[in-house]
Amino acid sequence: MNFKQEFLDKLLSAKKIVFFTGAGISAESNIPTFRGKDGIWNKMNPEELASFDAFMRNPDLVWEWYQQRRDIVHKAQPNPGHVAIAGLEKHYDVTVVTQNIDNLHRRAGSTKIFELHGNIERNFCIECHTFYNSPDLETTNTVPKCKKCGGLVRPDVVWFGEMLPQDEFSGGEKAAEWSDICFVVGTSAVVYPATYIPMSAKRGGSYLVEVNIESTELSSYVDYSLFGKAGEILPKILEEVKKFKN
Ligand code: OAD
Ligand code: ZN
Repeated sequence: MNFKQEFLDKLLSAKKIVFFTGAGISAESNIPTFRGKDGIWNKMNPEELASFDAFMRNPDLVWEWYQQRRDIVHKAQPNPGHVAIAGLEKHYDVTVVTQNIDNLHRRAGSTKIFELHGNIERNFCIECHTFYNSPDLETTNTVPKCKKCGGLVRPDVVWFGEMLPQDEFSGGEKAAEWSDICFVVGTSAVVYPATYIPMSAKRGGSYLVEVNIESTELSSYVDYSLFGKAGEILPKILEEVKKFKN
């Protein structure tokens, strides 16, 4: 793969790099994306599964759906895209700002991660806010009850109509603003406020690079588009970096 010189020059001088990622980076780990022809939201109605109202209407149904997604995530492995991002930490100050809840960046070895939409491995009681890690809850298809107060336990993920975790968002926004390069990987970039992250990067003077199998809402806005699979392109970027950094 031939990268354009302007991008290579940026890689050479950059110190801080942000990866803003979406479901596409986990597609090669066989975790389905949300949009596109096999997307989750083509088959399911988000309002019926991913909202607090849906949970209160039918907690067992919502819990069971997340339980199925946990199974998929547990069986999945980080792919070469996640691994390359973690590998770049050896050469740069890398921050991952992800919309994914699948924990794969952490499992791949990335250490600085802002999770804008929560994490499927964490849960909390809707009454007293006690946190529970998924492995500590009995694997069951009915919603668990809080051991302290008997309240319903829900996954710690952001549902439609809910606010993003403030610290994660502002941490991610600052990292983006201060970055030298911001990669936008595997996201359709249609969900706000998450998509403000690459915009903050651009506003702060960062060089925006998109990695996606197709063009997106952000394609005309970025400085450089790399079309192809994240699991193929990101390892090539790491290889390139290794030629001039050690
Ligand atoms: P989407 O499903 O909207 O978009 C996935 C993107 O990944 C698309 O642009 C694909 O072209 C691209 N893609 C697919 N396979 C790829 C590959 N192998 N390499 C590179 N790119 C690939 O997912 P998100 O943008 O993450 O929110 O969706 C944003 C949010 O919408 C999610 O976090 C979720 C959802 O509703 C919540 O759950 C709050
Ligand atoms: Zn409780």
